[in-house]
Amino acid sequence: MTTSVRGDQLARLLGRWHSLPGRHRSPDYAALGAAVRGLLADGRLALGVRLPAERELAEALGVSRTTVSAAYRALRESGHLNSRRGAGSWTTLPNGHRVATSGLWTPDDDLDMIDLGCAASAAPVELVPAARAAADELPRYLGSAGYHPAGLTELRAAVAEAYTTRGVPTSAEQILITSGTQQALDLVLRLTVPVGAPVLVETPTYPNALAALAARRARISTHGLDTATGWDAELLLGALRQTRPRLAYVITEFQNPTGHLMPAELRERMVATAHATGTELVVDESFVDLSLDNPEMPPPVAVFDRHSRVLSIGGMSKAYWGGLRIGWVRASAPLVQRLAAIRVGVDMASPVLEQLVAVQLLQAASSIVSARRAQLQFRRDALVTALREQLPEWRFFIPGGGVTLWAELDGPISSALSRAAEDVGVRLAPGPRFGLDGTLERFLRLPFTLPADDLVEAVRRIASVRHDLDRAPRPAWRTPAVIA
Ligand SMILES: Cc1ncc(COP(=O)(O)O)c(C=O)c1O
Repeated sequence: MTTSVRGDQLARLLGRWHSLPGRHRSPDYAALGAAVRGLLADGRLALGVRLPAERELAEALGVSRTTVSAAYRALRESGHLNSRRGAGSWTTLPNGHRVATSGLWTPDDDLDMIDLGCAASAAPVELVPAARAAADELPRYLGSAGYHPAGLTELRAAVAEAYTTRGVPTSAEQILITSGTQQALDLVLRLTVPVGAPVLVETPTYPNALAALAARRARISTHGLDTATGWDAELLLGALRQTRPRLAYVITEFQNPTGHLMPAELRERMVATAHATGTELVVDESFVDLSLDNPEMPPPVAVFDRHSRVLSIGGMSKAYWGGLRIGWVRASAPLVQRLAAIRVGVDMASPVLEQLVAVQLLQAASSIVSARRAQLQFRRDALVTALREQLPEWRFFIPGGGVTLWAELDGPISSALSRAAEDVGVRLAPGPRFGLDGTLERFLRLPFTLPADDLVEAVRRIASVRHDLDRAPRPAWRTPAVIA
């Protein structure tokens, strides 16, 4: 974990802090303080990090030490900085703030905030009846200790059946129930990726997958997706052949964030190439149920797997509810056993009650999922219309499913725009969060999981601050500096 940040590093993170919207109305120290708060708000500057000494930051920014002193004082007063004489200043949370569902802190009175940082839906109405029915089922398990490291057999069987229906014959022994898809990925990485091993990921990709890979200290290389067309088959297969990664992580259905769906032919070639290069293929199927326009889906990647190279991971967070924390791995039965053994060392097992709720929900899958699809389709269309009206210069591919739209902006403004949007009550996840090296400043992920009215209002607010950004000098593209 980063525990301190140097002056040059913070200066780079701050970018053109002095030309943010509204800047012409505030003195330098206030603009600097606001920019540091913005970095904290979008998670680019962590909590508990020691900021550089005033003189060092002043030099790096080319401002007077008095300006930095005053900015630090303002940050202390607003509760974003703790200072100890002679020791330094650490980033912190102001009193009365909490961690929001997005994982970012947010003021308690922040009721008007539209959170587009999080790409997940509220629970379906069926959840409470499912929870009641699950409670009725619970006595069947109360006579035992309740630890089932691989998951309840009935839930494993229900998940296996869904795979079989999709065209990959699967038995309950091939399913491991996990605490969400995130834990599924983490366990797979623990099993297959030794520290420092080469790994291939898409860029842009799901930020928490990058976090899980960073925790394994994997050596990450990337395959860049085209905003309009998705994967480039030759480049993806070429990257596999050249880097021969230990593992490749791909989101084949309505990729987060770009929304692309991998065609069947590439699925087949990818599996064959992974076999040739000795690569474990981890296929994140988080959005597989959420096809919005075309019910015809390409076959699951596992269909093409003849050598147990494919580990499919998925879960209930996107079509049902993230708060359930139910996910799974589909792999060979022996691999599932090994993953279950690792899992015991992490959290023993998933909660019995939640697994029973999941069983209930899967029994009602067709009606719950079709309602979810209709809801998301409506919301996506509302978002697309609002963007075309309010921000016609932005370009995007209309995703045929999933929950996210990846917009190409009209300049490298994603972080600045996200900071400005926070001031008008819209939380955004800027493009660089979805990559590794501070690139993707020209992109912004927009989820369409909130009600249509909120999405339209959010776009209106984003458009208003976007036009304010123009009054300041346009941020120019700069080569990112290396952070050691
Ligand atoms: C691609 C992808 N994988 C995994 C996850 C995490 O899912 P879960 O809530 O099941 O852990 C998400 C959630 O946004 C996701 O988008």
